[in-house]
Amino acid sequence: MITLGIETSCDETAIGILEDRRVRSNVVSSQIVHTKYGGVVPELAARNHIKVIVPLVNVALEIAGCGLRDIGLISVTRGPGLMGSLLVGLSYAKALAVALKKPFIGTNHLEGHIYTLHVGGKGPAYPYLVLLVSGGHTELVLVKKEFNYVTIGRTVDDACGEAFDKVAKLIGLPYPGGPYIEKYALKGQLGAIRFPVPKAGRYDFSYAGLKTAVLYYVQQYGNSRLADIAANFQESALSQLVQVTKKAVLDLGVKDVGLVGGVSANQTLQNKLLKLGQETGCQIHVPDREYCTDNGAMIAMAGARRYKRFGGSNLNIDAVAREDLEEIP
Ligand code: KG4
Ligand code: ZN
Repeated sequence: MITLGIETSCDETAIGILEDRRVRSNVVSSQIVHTKYGGVVPELAARNHIKVIVPLVNVALEIAGCGLRDIGLISVTRGPGLMGSLLVGLSYAKALAVALKKPFIGTNHLEGHIYTLHVGGKGPAYPYLVLLVSGGHTELVLVKKEFNYVTIGRTVDDACGEAFDKVAKLIGLPYPGGPYIEKYALKGQLGAIRFPVPKAGRYDFSYAGLKTAVLYYVQQYGNSRLADIAANFQESALSQLVQVTKKAVLDLGVKDVGLVGGVSANQTLQNKLLKLGQETGCQIHVPDREYCTDNGAMIAMAGARRYKRFGGSNLNIDAVAREDLEEIP
């Protein structure tokens, strides 16, 4: 079956076309309009989704070598995310489903990220642990079996990607800051500046204190040592992720660990986690780079799996700004 995946939860318009587990196309239109504001402006994000969604679907169909008539299922992100952005994708998907007389399913964005581990191949064996790190979320999730999630830890304040973006802004790097911090960090000296590795207790995370430590440093010394600030902020931010994950791996005795969400594109984080895998004997799973940040293939994949098990969604479903994995209807 061919599934069309539509993702508009934040500032990327993304379309994926999937045939079973094989990706036939996966296209993303990133909104550069937010760069000059140093963060996503919700109203502008929604307007841009409206502009590009139809042409982007056409591009995706062309790359996939199929037409709308070949689509067997339409999967769209219904949340969590920005309301105005979500509504563009959701309304478009509903209209398409009615026009084409095809089934439709509203998909949870976080479940989409988790399913990037299963795109293309079989993915990790159940039960497995997922470290989900993005611009909006930082969570440690135990996936007991398919569709059975226990969120064992989460951030108590900022998300990890959000901290990368805020620190980048603070030191004068463009939005989204994660990739820029990573790039500058490569040239910085570890240990040259001491930032704390925050602790939030058990399996939780915290980034507000670290962000404030960088702010105080910049207020006192300025941002001329860009690379050192980036390297040492990144080291503290990523160490926290790995320390908490290690504790959970040892406590729970899991054998497979997945790393998903935009921050999983960070090579230093991937390396740290691979090292953790060697130390603890568990296998680390990381999606290909194009599936780390928001994409349509992951929404197609998660939607297709849920549809197969539970059937489609009613056309009267709403977008949801928040929805934990345990709350997916
Ligand atoms: O999953 P995603 O595309 O969107 C959300 O669901 O939030 O994640 C975007 C986040 C941004 O905060 C971005 O700065 C961060 O992922 N990110 C990175 C890297 N690439 C993207 N953070 C650190 N290092 C990277 N290489
Ligand atoms: Zn995301």
